[in-house]
Amino acid sequence: MYASGSLAVLTSTIWIALLWCSYGVDIAAATAASSVDLAPILTNQQWSSNTTISFVGSPEFFSVTERWTTFSAPTYVAAVSPDTEEDLIKVVKLATSHKIPFLATGGRHGYTTTLGNLQNGLAIDLSRLNSLALDTTAQTLTVGPGVTVGEVFDPLYNAGFDIQTGSAPCPSLIGVTLGGGVGQYQGIYGLIADALISVRMVTANGEHIDVSRDSHPDLFWAVRGAGTNFGIVTSATYKVHPLADDGDVFVAEFLVAAEKSSEYFETLESMSPLPAGLSSIMLVNFNTTTNQTQVQVHWAYKGHENEGRAALAPILDLDIEATSIAVVPWNKLIGSAFGGVIDSICRDNITRDLYSWNMKNYSASTYTTSFSKMDDYFAKHPGGRSSVLQFEFFPNQAMAAVPADETAFPWRDTTGYINFNMLFDGGDNATEAASIALGLELRDDLVATSGYPELTVFINYAHGDEKIEQIYGREKLPRLASLKNIWDPNHFFSYNNGLPNQYP
Ligand SMILES: Cc1cc2nc3c(=O)[nH]c(=O)nc-3n(C[C@H](O)[C@H](O)[C@H](O)COP(=O)(O)OP(=O)(O)OC[C@H]3O[C@@H](n4cnc5c(N)ncnc54)[C@H](O)[C@@H]3O)c2cc1C
Ligand SMILES: *[C@@H]1O[C@H](CO)[C@@H](O)[C@H](O)[C@H]1NC(C)=O
Ligand SMILES: *[C@@H]1O[C@H](CO)[C@@H](O)[C@H](O)[C@H]1NC(C)=O
Ligand SMILES: *[C@@H]1O[C@H](CO)[C@@H](O)[C@H](O)[C@H]1NC(C)=O
Ligand SMILES: *[C@@H]1O[C@H](CO)[C@@H](O)[C@H](O)[C@H]1NC(C)=O
Ligand SMILES: *[C@@H]1O[C@H](CO)[C@@H](O)[C@H](O)[C@H]1NC(C)=O
Ligand SMILES: *[C@@H]1O[C@H](CO)[C@@H](O)[C@H](O)[C@H]1NC(C)=O
Repeated sequence: MYASGSLAVLTSTIWIALLWCSYGVDIAAATAASSVDLAPILTNQQWSSNTTISFVGSPEFFSVTERWTTFSAPTYVAAVSPDTEEDLIKVVKLATSHKIPFLATGGRHGYTTTLGNLQNGLAIDLSRLNSLALDTTAQTLTVGPGVTVGEVFDPLYNAGFDIQTGSAPCPSLIGVTLGGGVGQYQGIYGLIADALISVRMVTANGEHIDVSRDSHPDLFWAVRGAGTNFGIVTSATYKVHPLADDGDVFVAEFLVAAEKSSEYFETLESMSPLPAGLSSIMLVNFNTTTNQTQVQVHWAYKGHENEGRAALAPILDLDIEATSIAVVPWNKLIGSAFGGVIDSICRDNITRDLYSWNMKNYSASTYTTSFSKMDDYFAKHPGGRSSVLQFEFFPNQAMAAVPADETAFPWRDTTGYINFNMLFDGGDNATEAASIALGLELRDDLVATSGYPELTVFINYAHGDEKIEQIYGREKLPRLASLKNIWDPNHFFSYNNGLPNQYP
């Protein structure tokens, strides 16, 4: 066991406030508080030699709690980094029996503002549980919660397989999966959760259970879409796919100047619905060289270049110069997009606040209006020039082919996700206020032509101000709430847009 931290923290009594997110739904006690001296509880234990305990203020603590965004962040007084599943079970039992509020973290890329409802809690850092095993005969991949999305690319590709993933390498694969997991291959393979065969989970009472179609099938339904609500997943097994077309992806990227943007949006709208293998990521951002608002576009076609060129003909025929046309192997797809911009997208410890929503209709006229609003915002608020309005145009054929009742994930008709990614310096209140006002306005505008009658959001992208129906779907909530009541009635796992344990 390795402990680091200030003695003051070790010897003082730590007050812990429990703040249940309430959503207007009547969840347990709205606010409870308990006085727990964490240090002796954690240090008077036998831990495996590589399990570490750290306390706020130490470099070790920072490195195991550092997050992608510092906005509305949870805070902790101590962190446990279990090196074994036994130690994870032990810390869960300690925390639940002492009523210590805690958050188990994988990649620490969760950004919903409800995570900030945990203050002065205990961090359970899962990053050391990072085993990865590929069974090429069974065609399955089993990973621990410390494995990131990007860490599966090379092992799978090198063995002749691929899998649907998210579009960034830095979140944990399990973290992404628990909300459903959307990405560029969802039209061909479905959600990441659709690849799931089974998980192992530690529950609130410290049981370690198998969850699959044959074992706790109700819970298996629930973890695929609402999976952060019931326990801590210690491993997940996925179906992988033998490579087709050598794993090649045809990629075309464009830089669209302001004056060409409307024409570009109209062409894009005319291509809806996209064929299953074709996806696009589009960024409306500020170019600090030209000082202009611009549109950056990435298209990827899973398959042969010839088919890719045919699918992309309407775009290739526009008089817009490509910045890149290439065939890349799938394990390099994300790293090579937009000249490797993902490195800065993945950088940790930055203030970022996001609004997101789903769409099933593409609307050129609304995108043109949104572009003008972004242009105006960049002109008036130089402090917000790193903000980005991002569109993910992802087809849904394979996702929609899975019956709606198969999983808790509610939005199988979605063909795109929009997020307004607000970046501003901490303390720049004027830019912050203008960014939030614009975010809410863009959300209203773009939801109106999204094809949905009201705001809907994919849980992994939620801001935290949405209604639970807008996140989980009204029709899923009765069953989810009754499962919550069975597995986590005391709301230990409720910081990520937590479910109520009764609905309606
Ligand atoms: C740069 C970036 C790119 C993204 N790209 C995509 C994408 O392409 N597709 C997509 O679907 N989503 C994407 N997301 C959203 C992402 O899926 C969610 O933020 C997800 O919650 C991150 O998981 P994490 O483990 O990294 O985060 P954490 O902050 O560690 O965890 C987030 C929540 O999940 C819970 N959790 C994490 N691991 C476990 C576990 N093993 N068992 C139980 N609960 C757990 C935590 O308790 C917490 O409530 C992206 C996010 C970012 C910041
Ligand atoms: C602890 O980690 C070290 C270094 O990675 C390793 O050599 C050792 O075997 C580990 N010990 C246990 C008990 O896992
Ligand atoms: C900014 O615009 C210039 C000129 O069009 C271009 O070369 C450059 O790649 C753009 N930068 C970004 C980050 O898009
Ligand atoms: C862009 O703006 C910066 C200052 O904000 C200025 O220094 C630079 O000259 C401008 N570039 C162009 C091409 O106008
Ligand atoms: C993290 O960001 C904060 C500002 O938000 C800064 O004070 C701190 O030095 C950063 N820490 C590291 C290690 O980068
Ligand atoms: C900015 O907001 C923070 C918190 O919201 C507040 O403490 C601070 O005083 C504000 N600064 C200014 C200059 O208004
Ligand atoms: C979405 O698109 C369909 C087909 O083009 C159209 O019939 C419908 O009216 C659109 N819905 C909205 C809300 O824009």
